[in-house]
Amino acid sequence: MPAPHRLANGGVALYLDTTGDDPVVVHWGADLGDVDLDPALLLPPVAHSMFDDPVRPSLLPQLSRGWRGRPAIRGSRGGRDFSPRLALTGIEGDGTGCTLRLADGETRLEAEVGLALTPSGLLLVDLAVTNAGEGDYVLDRAEVALPVPAHAAESLDTTGRWIREKAPQRRPIQQGTWVRSGRHGRTGHDAPAVMAAGTAGFGWRTGEVWAVHLGWSGDFEAFVDRIGSGDTLLGAGELLQPGEVALAPGETYRAPTVYAAWSPAGLDGVSARFHDWLRARPTHPSAPRPVVLNTWEAVYFAHDLGTLQELADTAASLGVERFVLDDGWFTGRRHDRAGLGDWQVDETVWPDGLTPLIEHVKDRGMQFGLWVEPEMINEDSDLARSHPDWISTPGTRMPQEWRHQQVVDLANPAAWQHILEALDAILTENAIDYLKWDQNRDQLELGSGGRASTHEQTLAAYRLLDELKRRHPSVEIESCSSGGARVDLGILARTDRIWTSDTNDALERQQIQRWTELLVPPELVGAHVGPTRSHSTGRVHDIGFRATTAMFGHFGIEWDVRQASDDERTRLAEAIRVHKAHRELIATGRMVRMDSPDPALQVTGVVAQDGSSALFSVAALATSLNEVPVPVRFGGLDPDRAYRVELALPPGPHALSGRAGVAWIDARPVLPGRVLAEIGLPMPILNPEQALLLTLTA
Ligand code: DGJ
Repeated sequence: MPAPHRLANGGVALYLDTTGDDPVVVHWGADLGDVDLDPALLLPPVAHSMFDDPVRPSLLPQLSRGWRGRPAIRGSRGGRDFSPRLALTGIEGDGTGCTLRLADGETRLEAEVGLALTPSGLLLVDLAVTNAGEGDYVLDRAEVALPVPAHAAESLDTTGRWIREKAPQRRPIQQGTWVRSGRHGRTGHDAPAVMAAGTAGFGWRTGEVWAVHLGWSGDFEAFVDRIGSGDTLLGAGELLQPGEVALAPGETYRAPTVYAAWSPAGLDGVSARFHDWLRARPTHPSAPRPVVLNTWEAVYFAHDLGTLQELADTAASLGVERFVLDDGWFTGRRHDRAGLGDWQVDETVWPDGLTPLIEHVKDRGMQFGLWVEPEMINEDSDLARSHPDWISTPGTRMPQEWRHQQVVDLANPAAWQHILEALDAILTENAIDYLKWDQNRDQLELGSGGRASTHEQTLAAYRLLDELKRRHPSVEIESCSSGGARVDLGILARTDRIWTSDTNDALERQQIQRWTELLVPPELVGAHVGPTRSHSTGRVHDIGFRATTAMFGHFGIEWDVRQASDDERTRLAEAIRVHKAHRELIATGRMVRMDSPDPALQVTGVVAQDGSSALFSVAALATSLNEVPVPVRFGGLDPDRAYRVELALPPGPHALSGRAGVAWIDARPVLPGRVLAEIGLPMPILNPEQALLLTLTA
C-alpha cells in the first residue's frame, strides 16, 4: 500500500503524500510513527459548484491545482507563462530530510523544495525556483506555506514600533488572509518574531501551536490563509519589488529559509525548538557572554578621552568585561546630521586615534567594542560629496531622509568594496574585539541603476558581514537597528547577538525581551541596565528591578555609572556577580514563561536542561486587582526533585518588610518540584515595578 513519506526528528513529524504528481503535506505535528495509511483514504469530498477533483493544499499551492488561496509562485515572462503547473519529478533524502524536485514543461519553470527536520524538531524549508526556459522570467513571489489543522483557532504574531518592539497581537482565524507585510527594507520594529496559529487560548505553556519565521532581513510577508474549504496555510516569503528578480535563462532564485516549529505545549515549546537549533550551530557563541558597558546613554556624542577613561575605570571596578564605544568617534560625527560614510577616526576629538582608549580598556582586563553603521551615508559627509552616485535612489530623485541619512547602494560593487575596505582598515589598525553594527532607517525605495534593489541590497549587506567575518573571524558582531528593527534568523546567521530595543526602561523591557526571546535565546539578546530615570520614558526604577530585568539576557550597562550613588554601584556590582554565577544556566537552560492568572505579575525563568537548577524572576508590572498577590507556580522543574528556594538579589526598598513579607524567604525552604509546580509559593506584596530574583537548586 502506498504510505505517506515520513520525515521525523525531535518528536515532530511531517507526512507527505507523494503518490501523485502534486506533493501534499497530510500532517505536520506530533510524530505518529510509521503509519500504514493509504493517503487516498484522506482525500476530501468534492463540494458542489467546485472543481471536479478534490482540492488539497499542496506543498506548493498553485492556481493550476485549484488552490484559491495564495499561490506559492507568481510571475511571468512578459505576461506569459503566468500559471505554472509544477509536477513532482523526483524526491530524494532520508528519514529526517528530503529534496523534492518539480518541473513544468509549459511555463518552463523548475522548483526545488528542501525539507529538513532538525534534532530539536525545527523544520527548515528551502524553496528554489529556476527559469528553465528562454527569456527572462520575472518572479513576483516565491513563498513557502504549510498546512495547519482546522482546530488551530487563533493566530498570534508580534508587532511594534521604536522602543516598543515585539508586542503580541492575537485574533481568531477566520476565512480570509491575515498577512503581515514588511516594507521597511529591513526586518522592521513591527516584524513578527513568529507567525503562529494555535488551539483556542493557547499560552506559553498550554495548547498546540504551529509557528513560522522567515530568516530574512529585507521585505517580507508572513500570513495565515484560511480559504472557503476551511483549509488553512501558515507561511512566509520575501516581498519582492516590481521586476527586481528577473531570472535569466538557467538562473535560480533561492527564497529565504522558512523555519517552522510545532509545539504540543504552548509557546515555550516553540521557543525550545528555535533555541536548541540556534545553540547547536557551530557558530553559536560558546564563551560566556561578557558583561558589557555601552557608552550611548552615558555620553551620547560627547566623546572625550578623559571622561571615557573614567567610565572605563568605573565599569571595570563593577565587573564589566567588554567596553563598547558607541556612535560619535568618526570624522564629522558630532551629532546625527553628519559623518556617516567617513569611517576614519575623527582627529579633532581623537588626536592620537582610538589607541589610548583601547589600551586603557584592555589594561583593565576588558574587551573593546566599536559602533559602526556601514550601510548608511549622510549627505553631509565626504563620501557623499565625492561619490553622490553611491547613494541608493529609485531613479534620479533622492529618497526622503530619515535621521538625516540615506542608504549606500551596496548593489554597486564599487561602493560595496569601498565600505568593506574602510571597515577592514578599522579592524586591522585597531585592537577591536566587537562591532556594534547599526542600521537606523527604513529603506522604502531602494534602487540601484534605476531598478528596485531591496533584494540585492539585503544580500549585499549579508555579503559585507560575511566577508568581514571571514577576514576577522574573532570579532563578534552585534546586529542593531534603531534598537530591535533587525531581529531575524537571516542576520543572526552572521552576527553574535541582537540589540533588542532602544529603550532601557525595565518595565518596557520585561515585555520586549519576553517576546523577543520567543525566537532568540537569551544569551543573544542584549539587555542593559539603563539610567535610574529612563531616557526613553522618564520612568524611575530601582536598581533591583533594572538588574533583575537585564538578568535574562546578554547582561550589560548603558548608564554613566560615574554618576551612580555608592549604594547603586554596590548593588549593581552584586547583580553582575549574580549574573556571572548564572550566565551558563541562562545560556543553556530551557526558558519558562508562566501563564500568570494575574496580568500584573510576570514570571520568567530558566531551568537547567537536567533540571538541577533554575533562576526565576517574579516581576510586578502594575498594581494588582488582588489584595495579595496570587501564589506563583514554577513550571519546567523536575517534579521528583527537591529544590532549595533562595532570594538571589534584594528587590529594593520597602519590599519584604513586616506583614507585607512571606515566611519562606528567610526560611530558604527545600520543596519538591511537584509542589512548586502545582501549589507554588505565596509572594510578598511587591510594589509595582519591583521584582524578586530567585534561585532554585536541587
Ligand atoms: C541606534 C541604536 O539603537 C542605539 O543604541 C545607538 O547606537 C544609536 N543608534 C547611535 O546612533
